[in-house]
Amino acid sequence: METAALASSSTAEVEAGRRADADAAPPRMTTVSKHYFGGASSDRDHDLRVDIVENIEEDYGMFVWPCSVILAEYMWQQRSRFIGSKVVELGAGTSLPGLVAAKVGADVTLTDIAHNTEVLNNIRQVCRLNNVNCSVLGLTWGEWDEPIFDLHPDVILGADVLYDSAKFDDLFATVTFLLENSPGAVFITTYHNRSGHHLIEFSMVKWGLKCIKLLDGFSFLPSSKAASLQGNIQLVEIALAKQKPNCPSAD
Ligand SMILES: C[S@@+](CC[C@H](N)C(=O)[O-])C[C@H]1O[C@@H](n2cnc3c(N)ncnc32)[C@H](O)[C@@H]1O
Repeated sequence: METAALASSSTAEVEAGRRADADAAPPRMTTVSKHYFGGASSDRDHDLRVDIVENIEEDYGMFVWPCSVILAEYMWQQRSRFIGSKVVELGAGTSLPGLVAAKVGADVTLTDIAHNTEVLNNIRQVCRLNNVNCSVLGLTWGEWDEPIFDLHPDVILGADVLYDSAKFDDLFATVTFLLENSPGAVFITTYHNRSGHHLIEFSMVKWGLKCIKLLDGFSFLPSSKAASLQGNIQLVEIALAKQKPNCPSAD
């Protein structure tokens, strides 16, 4: 069903996919959006194209949020940093930044809330669509299921994951755990700066983190992309305030 919708979709086209139980359920509005990087970032002039399956009627994690467009562009512009690095994207949703990381040569794990199989299946679908071999993992912030202990990322990504202050502690608990598990790692995130970022700053201090770079998200965005986005979006790179000393070896 979805394959058929994919084959004929383009940026502006909307395909009404059908559920298996089409008699009972309304049609699902599935689109495939195309995202261009390099050159003029247009359909005619680009170095990289990433296709994303979106569903505008569904979950938060089923469409591409502006923060994701900005973080993906940053990954593209900074791509030499990420070649060969281990990248974990949290709250990946449609996964645009992580897919760009995979395309430029990173070893990528895409994660989203563990119980949301629809979002996780969509992540697997966009990986196939873009011919990238990423790991896909259910990872709920603030929960310690076994696979998280095997993650040792150099880079943690999160686009629009700081939208609900009630979830900040869970998110920062996971981020801090991953940073401590991977000395030298950095968390790169984009967020809407709705009321100043003092609450985020407060959480960073509370969790022993520091800001190492803060950018206006529009400062590096090509004008072709900026024209279609709104808001005050910031990009911040975050690291442990104090790196933990290495554990002494057993022998
Ligand atoms: C606003 S959406 C952003 C999606 C995507 N990063 C983007 O920018 O297009 C927030 C994402 O965080 C995920 N999320 C929300 N709460 C979560 C939690 N407690 N643990 C893990 N992921 C969560 C949602 O499923 C969703 O994909």
